[in-house]
Amino acid sequence: MFEGHGAPAAARTVGRYAIFDPIGSGGMAVVHLGRLIGPVGFSRMVAIKRLRSELASDPELTTMLIDEAQLAAHIHHPNVVGMLDVVDEAGEVCLVMEYVHGESLAFLARGLADQGLRLPIRIVANIMAGALHGLHAAHEAVGDGGQPLHIVHRDVSPQNILVGADGTTRVLDFGVAKAASRLSTTRIGQIKGKLRYMAPEQVLSKTIGPWTDVWSACVTFWETLTGKPLFTGDNDLQILKHVLEGEIPSPRKLAPEVPEALAALVLAGLARDPNVRIRSALELARGIEAAVGLVSARDIGDWVRRAGRNRLEARAKRIAELDRSTPRRSVPAGRRLATPIASARDARSERPRPVRRRTGLFATFIALTVAAAGLYLSRAPIPIDGSPAAALGSAGAEALSSPAPLQADGRAPAEHPPVPSPPAASSASTQPSAPAVTQVAPTPTPRSNGRAAVVTRRTAPVAPPADPVPASPPPTAIPADDLPPTAADLF
Ligand SMILES: Nc1ncnc2c1ncn2[C@@H]1O[C@H](COP(=O)(O)OP(=O)(O)OP(=O)(O)O)[C@@H](O)[C@H]1O
Ligand SMILES: [Mg+2]
Repeated sequence: MFEGHGAPAAARTVGRYAIFDPIGSGGMAVVHLGRLIGPVGFSRMVAIKRLRSELASDPELTTMLIDEAQLAAHIHHPNVVGMLDVVDEAGEVCLVMEYVHGESLAFLARGLADQGLRLPIRIVANIMAGALHGLHAAHEAVGDGGQPLHIVHRDVSPQNILVGADGTTRVLDFGVAKAASRLSTTRIGQIKGKLRYMAPEQVLSKTIGPWTDVWSACVTFWETLTGKPLFTGDNDLQILKHVLEGEIPSPRKLAPEVPEALAALVLAGLARDPNVRIRSALELARGIEAAVGLVSARDIGDWVRRAGRNRLEARAKRIAELDRSTPRRSVPAGRRLATPIASARDARSERPRPVRRRTGLFATFIALTVAAAGLYLSRAPIPIDGSPAAALGSAGAEALSSPAPLQADGRAPAEHPPVPSPPAASSASTQPSAPAVTQVAPTPTPRSNGRAAVVTRRTAPVAPPADPVPASPPPTAIPADDLPPTAADLF
């Protein structure tokens, strides 16, 4: 139904997500524009990755993918595409990610290569530094209990680096490669094309670590600087041989304008021996930034909007359409509901706020009751079981079991215990938000094939009514006047 990339698709709903047009596809999945439609009218754009149907029926693969997505949800960094949710409906696994209004590095580089051009060196260098910062955050990620998660991407490649129209680079698809590696024994064709980014220790099934992603990032960097593939071959075996033994020339051999210091860093990240290689993504990122200087996100964003102009404009238009057609309310009839969140803030001043006042009165009543009971107790004989509730009789027992016990100073407690404020809604032009998750509880879920899979069920984030999460604005449409006619104008 959705398999053809570019084919228009009718919306369908999986869980609380509406799935729209495909925006890209890879070896394992098709990626769609999607929209979270929350129960109180909150909505935001998301990207939804649907496993290809032949893979979706592999329970071991899907379980692993879900587990990996769960780990990826612990990576919180502006240079990483946020993993928001995983839904599994009728055996169909969908990964729900933050939507990035941008293009993959692969797309940007290919578009220029077609015109015989290469990305400007300082832009590439800053894109790669951003990706490395994101990778470092993943390598350092810890679980909720503070334990290191030892995340390694394993599939750093130009396809998995998205460069946003906001100028921010984001790494995509954490954990997908680990699940996909299961396929390598049975479906080698699926990972074809990725071999040339794999580190020697990875192809030899030796110990991998952050240094493995450093290698893949450096292959990507080398190729983007030179506009040529580094490890080539007519078949997988030849490519592997090249990865393990082939010559690795300096990028300056093909692109002499690459600064010496930058070329040296790329080669240091391509040392075959992991003990000799630059081992930390952060160290490499800092080295790159020192070698070429920082380029502002605004300048990178301008460049991306120009280079990907046609597709980004078309997508922005489509997103605006989807935004207009999104139902703003879907709350069951009869339930009192504030206005949609976008206008809730405006309406807030007009809304009566009875809850707090009622709570205050209730607290005063309880305070008086407890004081009276205390007075009585000081005179009453202590009952056999010693329980103050028994001594107080039914009214006192009720007061003691009150859901709102008083604080030491006699004031009523806050309505909600203090909770960390919910993450700000992310948009294409803002930093990515943390996953909208308050609790995650693994629950066994029966699958259509009769086997049980562990599926993460997330409780919906609850915002206090008086302080709603601001609605996510649609990704910024780029005014046509700001853009030159073609990407070639830039170079
Ligand atoms: N979160 C996202 N926001 C915006 N676009 C995305 C997002 N995720 C993926 N895409 C688009 O979808 C394309 C396909 O992604 P996908 O990960 O399925 O394929 P791939 O990276 O080319 O191959 P692989 O299967 O090896 O990961 C990407 O290149 C990108 O253009
Ligand atoms: Mg990918």
